[in-house]
Formats: sequence, C-alpha cells, structure tokens
Amino acid sequence: METKVLTVDPAHPEPAAIADAAAVLRRGGLVAFPTETVYGLGANALDAAACARIFAAKGRPPNNPIIVHAADMETARQVVTSWPESASRLANRFWPGPLTLVLPKNTAVPDLVTAGGPTVAVRVPARPVALALLRAAGVPVAAPSANLSGQLSPTRAEHVLRSLNGRIDVIVDGGPAPGGLESTVVDLSRSPPRLLRPGLIGPSAIETIVGPVERLATAGQPDAVLRSPGLLPRHYAPRAPLECVETAAEARVSELASQGLRIGWLTFGQPRQRLLAGVTTIVMPTDPAEYAAHLYAVLHELDDAGVERIVVDLPPDSEEWLTVRDRLRRASA
Ligand code: TXA
Ligand code: MG
Repeated sequence: METKVLTVDPAHPEPAAIADAAAVLRRGGLVAFPTETVYGLGANALDAAACARIFAAKGRPPNNPIIVHAADMETARQVVTSWPESASRLANRFWPGPLTLVLPKNTAVPDLVTAGGPTVAVRVPARPVALALLRAAGVPVAAPSANLSGQLSPTRAEHVLRSLNGRIDVIVDGGPAPGGLESTVVDLSRSPPRLLRPGLIGPSAIETIVGPVERLATAGQPDAVLRSPGLLPRHYAPRAPLECVETAAEARVSELASQGLRIGWLTFGQPRQRLLAGVTTIVMPTDPAEYAAHLYAVLHELDDAGVERIVVDLPPDSEEWLTVRDRLRRASA
C-alpha cells in the first residue's frame, strides 16, 4: 500500500486533513499521529480486524497489549467496566497527558487489544493533533508507538516513515512529539496501584494523588512481563549495540575507538576529552525533561549515521532520572 503523509499545523491542525485521517480510521485503516510523548500507530479500538492490522504492520507479538486513546474522560470510561475514585482523581489531575491507566476492560474492546487479558490500558493524550483526530474519529483509538516492534519509538514523522512506509495508510505529520518518551502506565485494577512503566509523570507525583504505589524494582520479573510487556528487558532499542556506563565512559569510548569502531557517545555534561577519531560526541542535556525530549531523536540520528556502537554516560541514579535510565537500560539489554 502507499503511505500518504498529511502535514498539519501542530497547534491548529487543518480540519480537512484531520477529517481525511479520521475517515481512514473509521473504515478500519491505520493512521500514525503525534501525541505529546511519541508518535502512535492508531486503529479503531473497537474494530478487531483494524487492530489486527497494527500487529501485522509492526510485527508486534500478540502477547503485547495496546494502549487505547480517548478524546476525553467520558470516552475513556466507555472502554472499562469499573472506574474507581483513584481513576477520577488521576484523570482530573493529569489528563489530557502522558498517564495511562489500566482498568478492567469492557467486552466492546477486542481481546487482541488487551492481549487476551481482563484489563485495558487507556489514556487521553495532550497534543492538539491527537485530540482533534480522536474527536473527528468518534471512536477510541488503539495506538502503540509507530515503529516496527522492538525498535526505537518515533518522535518525528520522518522516523515513522522510515520504519513503516508502505505498511500503513496515513501519517499525520504534526511536527516533533515534544515529550520524547512513552507515557507512565499505572495499574489501577489492583490495590495498591502498581507502576507498570515509568514515564514522563514520576511516581511521587502519582502518589501525592492516590497514596502509595507499588514500584517494580527491576524489569523482567515474569509477572511484570505478562502484565506489561513494555517491561521486557530489551525494548526501545537502536540498531547499533548500546552500552551504559556509570563511570569512566571516556576509557571505554577510547578502547572501542581504538578497535576501529565508529562510536556514538552520549555524554552527560561536558566530556573532558572531546576529540576522538571516529567518535561522534553528543552532549546530552542535564535537565531530565530536556534529556527525555531528545533521547530517541539522538539515537535515531546515530543509527542513520551508521555508528557501530553507542556508549552512554548514565545520568544520576535518582527519581527524576528514573524514566531516562529505564529506557537506556532497555535499549542496552
Ligand atoms: O506514550 C505512549 O504511551 C505511546 C503513545 C503512542 O501514546 N504509546 C505506547 O504504546 O507506548 P505501546 O503499545 O508501545 O505500549 C503499550 C504498553 C505495553 O507494552 C504495556 O507495558 C502497557 O502499555 N499496556 C498496554 N495495555 C496493557 C494492559 N492491558 N495491561 C497492562 N499493561 C498494558
Ligand atoms: Mg512501543
């Protein structure tokens, strides 16, 4: 199939383009669109055949459930069978925004969206383009990140095109996705709630609203994998092998460079030793939100430049860096 790119104004998307994309969703097609986190690959969440196309286009394993996107809280409530007070409180505080809630699913949601499980993940995204598209479509939209399974999430339309050109109907190009990392996923179907995937909203911010939240110390616990495949140890990875270094990254970079490998080096703050032959050095922001906003775009660039190894100076082991470190670890597993 030919993939059509519809370019829209990020803040005020043209209604005609949005109507075209919404019509594709309503007739069972696949539409990639920007959210405030990353680009999603959407299909009508109530149409099993359309959702099956997401798995086919991405090469996504059937045991990985998909997040359902809704235009507003009312629509979100239609895909679940219970809506605890904690859900109202979190939704009122963080929606539209990068928070995904896991709740018991309604039978209207096809089993493949939830990987056969009894719960569904739902969120209201914050980008004008995403909200306009969801409203025009008039249905909830299942949307994982718009990349081939296992690869880096896209933060720009060109990343989507490179990964899925010819495999999906439409890409709505609404400029860069500003957040840069996927939403926080919280399971409210159990008590206490459990953080399934760290994201742009930190666990303490959630705890101030709903009290203690169970945090998973490490990814890869069997239960965690079943409950939330975003927790698979290797995920969100660039093509070039990536290694994280807590200290003495310069020594490691020099060692790899001396083997004649082309290296991409993400430093945290200014490196002391700047010019090494064969090393592309990128100074990453020391602010967590800025780092998150740039990380995937930088990794996409290094892949495109054909580096053979990526070395990353890890940011500090503190809560504000939780999500960045989580994604870097997965990229390196
Ligand atoms: O920021 C985001 O959340 C992006 C944008 C496009 O909204 N979407 C995204 O979707 O990252 P995806 O499909 O790549 O991530 C889905 C992850 C699963 O791997 C799992 O961790 C969790 O969300 N998830 C989805 N449905 C679930 C369910 N029923 N129960 C538990 N976890 C679920
Ligand atoms: Mg993904």
